[in-house]
Amino acid sequence: MTKPIDLAASVRSIVDYPKPGIIFRDITTLLGDAVVFRQAVDELVRPYTGLGVDKIAGIEARGFILGGALAHQLSAGFVPIRKKGKLPHETVRIAYSLEYGVDEMEMHVDAVKPGEKVILTDDLIATGGTAEGAVKLLRQQGAEIVSACFVIDLPELGGRRKLEALGVEVRTLMEFEGH
Ligand code: PRP
Ligand code: MG
Repeated sequence: MTKPIDLAASVRSIVDYPKPGIIFRDITTLLGDAVVFRQAVDELVRPYTGLGVDKIAGIEARGFILGGALAHQLSAGFVPIRKKGKLPHETVRIAYSLEYGVDEMEMHVDAVKPGEKVILTDDLIATGGTAEGAVKLLRQQGAEIVSACFVIDLPELGGRRKLEALGVEVRTLMEFEGH
């Protein structure tokens, strides 16, 4: 029998990055391993097969990598949600809260049609401020958020609860304690 793949073991933890006291959970090691990356994408996709999802919305930057793979596997379109000022066509914009401070994200005004079924994805959910902003932006354009999925959840920071309070189903592949 082949050994089961431990996805969490493929995430690299970098202590005191980007600042003292933070442990950065780096998924580039997971993405760089062909077998592990495929397994992670397969696990993310599995609950959504057959649901007739129209679009995957990926949050800049690492959500683009996962979102492209998910969209391909589900035969769905891909929608980039970007930091402000990066998209060339007319956009809709929303402010969102970060752990310290605020920022703004944008999506093309015609990226989703009212009633389209959309799955939101990103590498990680921490406070949930980023994903909450994306959910609100997509809903403003009439999207139906089927689910939101992330490779990593940092449960102590409460992001999952924040999204669930908005009525969004949340799926994650692993959890880490602390920041
Ligand atoms: C990180 C991570 C998520 C977000 C999660 O991105 O990739 O997008 O933070 O944090 P939250 O749940 O507290 O909102 P970051 O803002 O560092 O930007 P990047 O992906 O462009 O590097
Ligand atoms: Mg990010």
